[in-house]
Amino acid sequence: MSRPCRAEGGAGPQSFDVAVLGAGAAGMFCAGVAGQRGARVVVIDHAAQPGEKIRISGGGRCNFTNVDAGRLERYAGSEPRFARHALRAYLPKRFLELVARHRIPWHEKHRGQLFCDDSSLRIVRMLREEAESGGVAWRLGCRVHGVRRADPGEGGFEVDTDAGVVRTRSLVVATGGLSIPKTGASDLGYRIARQFGLRIVETRPALVPLTFDAADWAPFGALAGVALEVDIAAPAQPDAPRFREDLLFTHRGLSGPAVLQISSFWRPGTPLEIDLAPARRLEQVWIDAQPEARQQLATLLAASLPRRLAALWVERFGANHPGVRPETRVAEVGKRALRELAGSVQRWELHPSGTEGYRKAEVTSGGVATAALDPRTMQAREVPGLHFVGEVVDVTGWLGGYNFQWAWSSGFAAGMAV
Ligand code: FDA
Repeated sequence: MSRPCRAEGGAGPQSFDVAVLGAGAAGMFCAGVAGQRGARVVVIDHAAQPGEKIRISGGGRCNFTNVDAGRLERYAGSEPRFARHALRAYLPKRFLELVARHRIPWHEKHRGQLFCDDSSLRIVRMLREEAESGGVAWRLGCRVHGVRRADPGEGGFEVDTDAGVVRTRSLVVATGGLSIPKTGASDLGYRIARQFGLRIVETRPALVPLTFDAADWAPFGALAGVALEVDIAAPAQPDAPRFREDLLFTHRGLSGPAVLQISSFWRPGTPLEIDLAPARRLEQVWIDAQPEARQQLATLLAASLPRRLAALWVERFGANHPGVRPETRVAEVGKRALRELAGSVQRWELHPSGTEGYRKAEVTSGGVATAALDPRTMQAREVPGLHFVGEVVDVTGWLGGYNFQWAWSSGFAAGMAV
């Protein structure tokens, strides 16, 4: 990032119609849309390469949207309806048409998630080509030292960069969130928002693994690598959905899609509730259906849970139920204990101590408060010409291609308006 600033597309005049800060998903997309409409656009980024998060996304295959990404309830934020206009104006099918025009092969995976067949770099290249066909100029490896309003009479903004002062009529802030600092994440977008009087909704790591107190977690650490499908909920958050997804035990806590999803809704100090066997009602299976009386409890439970988890579960249950051990036979325990064991599996309440933080979070929730933005143009209501798009805004999608769709839709809204 300390490389000298490159000015591709000609060093030319330092005066543009639109300056986009951030060559990520939202910024590149917005630049292409604005450029193709005839605006003179420059994209400025301190990273040497554009689209670094796109490159690493989806395990290198970029889950670029979701067939359900037009559904508003798949997005969280302080104003749940804010994203509606932008999502409606640019739906997943429009992005798929673009992907088809660039002959990028893709496939649908689990729950409507759409991935590239080969490499996420195809999406980066597509965005670059779209921008270039709009004549967009690039300032990559270029630090931004500050922005200010231009002279009152002229309107517009001035951006101080390594490559000198860039003058622009419209400024689009697309600098993303704080997640994964090594990809170039910074708080520049939030600082610019505050400078112009916009409020920032407190930011938090989201789509992130959860951690536990080391002593509490010690017995479960041995299960690292064990995965299973669960139902997961954050009961203290009334608006939080319940997710049925895979959960993964790690040395420090819990991960996997179920936990990443709920992490966006969980708040410190509140519990999680997990059903470890969501496809069955264990009480019915164990009591009404009268299991084999000679069966050991750990074996009984292993019909519904991974074997290592089942053994540990009965062992821990036994700590509060004298005489109950993994090898105890069903006939030796009463119905009441069986009912309690079933309940403990289907309503596991646990208290995370924190998250793995921005280092591991896929996204940042919170950000520029949407109340101050026009949902059709992403423009700050009180600051004509200043737009915010993508993850820097207080809109956070579910796991599964929703965050890229927000980048495309919000980038499109601003690109059509500037
Ligand atoms: P983005 O972060 O893409 O771009 C911001 C740009 O601003 C960067 O290029 C950065 O260098 C630049 N910038 C920041 N500070 C600056 C400064 N001070 N000066 C100049 N430039 C600056 N989503 C999804 O829908 N499907 C998926 O498969 C995945 N997978 C995934 C994997 C991993 C590991 C991560 C970390 C994230 C995902 N995501 C995802 C989330 C997705 O990557 C994210 O929501 C979008 O990239 C957000 O796009 P933006 O353009 O808003 O920010």
